[in-house]
Parts: sequence; structure tokens; C-alpha cells
Amino acid sequence: MSDDAVGGERSEPKTDPGASRHGNFMNYYQFHPAEERVRQLPHGVWRLAHPARKYAGLDVGCNAGDLTYVLYDFLEKAMSQDQPEVSLLGVDLDPMLIERARERNSRPDRVAFECLDFLSEDCGETLTRYLDRFGKKRFDVVFCFSITMWIHLNHGDDGLEEFLRRACALAEVIVIEPQPWKCYRKASRRLRRANSEDFPLLKGLKYTGDPARHIDDIVTRLCGFCKIAVTESNDWGRELLIYERKQQNCPTDR
Ligand SMILES: C[S@@+](CC[C@H](N)C(=O)[O-])C[C@H]1O[C@@H](n2cnc3c(N)ncnc32)[C@H](O)[C@@H]1O
Repeated sequence: MSDDAVGGERSEPKTDPGASRHGNFMNYYQFHPAEERVRQLPHGVWRLAHPARKYAGLDVGCNAGDLTYVLYDFLEKAMSQDQPEVSLLGVDLDPMLIERARERNSRPDRVAFECLDFLSEDCGETLTRYLDRFGKKRFDVVFCFSITMWIHLNHGDDGLEEFLRRACALAEVIVIEPQPWKCYRKASRRLRRANSEDFPLLKGLKYTGDPARHIDDIVTRLCGFCKIAVTESNDWGRELLIYERKQQNCPTDR
């Protein structure tokens, strides 16, 4: 199932997905159950470097938090040998989604949510303040699940580059789930069908056709990260690209 089959910002029947400008669907997880999303994640790539066993993650574009909570459980299990103290921060630009995420928070000591536009000026300051609590300069992992298309459509090629540069600057490991190009066309079509203005930057995009390839090039060439894993596509055709900060040379292509 693609994003095309997701209910929209307004409540509409499941067969008639609504239009969304930023991907801030209110019922996203009815269509993309969060538990299924972590099945593709490998277990061996999460490293605990902090002497006090503190492991901090960032979930960019966390929507209503369902996936953030599942990622928290996943990380605790995947690193259970090290018994880390996992903390996760979810950020999203939609205040209603952040309110929903906070309402259901059963681990407020470990999971937090902030309403932030990741490309805004004040975002960096909030994230630095969060990291200071753990004595860290960067997050151990930054998750970017199904957000790159919305950034790309709203901020263009330069915006996508800026988004990935910022995310990489904050990350030791970054996990990206890019949307395929057909989803761009569907998102545009849905806006037009809803008599809303199309994404003004769509026609001028140069990074077209295979967004994952462009994202891979930006993350490895411009941001200097090494690819450490690519998962199989999930049942709605999305693979996860996983990279880590370059220590010396990247190991040969995986
Ligand atoms: C399609 S949803 C994906 C949600 C979640 N990451 C997942 O895959 O389950 C995309 C989310 O990104 C958020 N988003 C879009 N642009 C954003 C930005 N500039 N800063 C923060 N969040 C953003 C939207 O509000 C939306 O909740």
C-alpha cells in the first residue's frame, strides 16, 4: 500500500485518500501499522558508545508518535545485551499530531515530543538543548521515515539537501525511508483533485525518477556518510537506507 491509500487530514473514507501538503495525516497508522515498519530493521548496527550507556535517538516527522514508541521498544530489545538507557525525541511540525503523541505517552521519562519544523531556524537550538541533557553532541541515531518526499515537494532540491545535511550533522547513524517517485505524482494529483494549489516546486525538481538514488548521493558524497545497510522493500515498496558517520574510509559497497 502506498501513501496514496492513506486517509487525509480531513476525515474521508479509506477508499478516497485525502490531500495533504506536508504528510501530516491524522490516521496514518491505521494504514501503515507501526509494528510492521520495524520488521525490516537489522539488529547489528546500533552501537552504544556512551560511557554511561545512554543512547539517544531522534525521530524526524514523528506524526502521532506510534512509530516512535515502536522504535523505542525495538532499540531496547536490539541492544538489550548492553542494557542501554534509550531515550527518543520525536519532532513534527503539526501541533495536533504532537498533542496526540504526548497524550499517549506511557514513558515520559524516556520518550519526548516537540512540535518543530525541522528546517526552521530555532530547531537546532531545541535539539542541542535536548542533547545537552545526555552530554552528547549528536544523536546516536536519527530516523527519517517517509518524510523526504514532503520536504522535497515543499522545499525543492535545495531543501532536500539542506534537510539531509542537517539530519546528518546531528547523527552518528541515520536511517532513511525514501518515498518512491510515484508517490510524488500521487501526492500532487490528490492536491489537485481537492482543488488545492499543486506543489509549486514540483515541476522544477531535478532530483526526479529515483529519489533514493539522489538521497544516497547526497548522504554519501555531500554529507560524507558510509552506507552500512539497505533493507529489502517492505510490502508497500519502500526500503530503508542506513548510513553511519565516516570514521576513516567507508568499507567497500554493501
Ligand atoms: C507521512 S508522515 C510519516 C510519519 C512517520 N515518520 C512514519 O513514517 O510513520 C510525514 C510526517 O512528516 C511531518 N513533516 C513534514 N515536514 C516536516 C518538517 N519540515 N519538520 C517536521 N516534520 C515534518 C508531517 O507533519 C508528517 O507527520
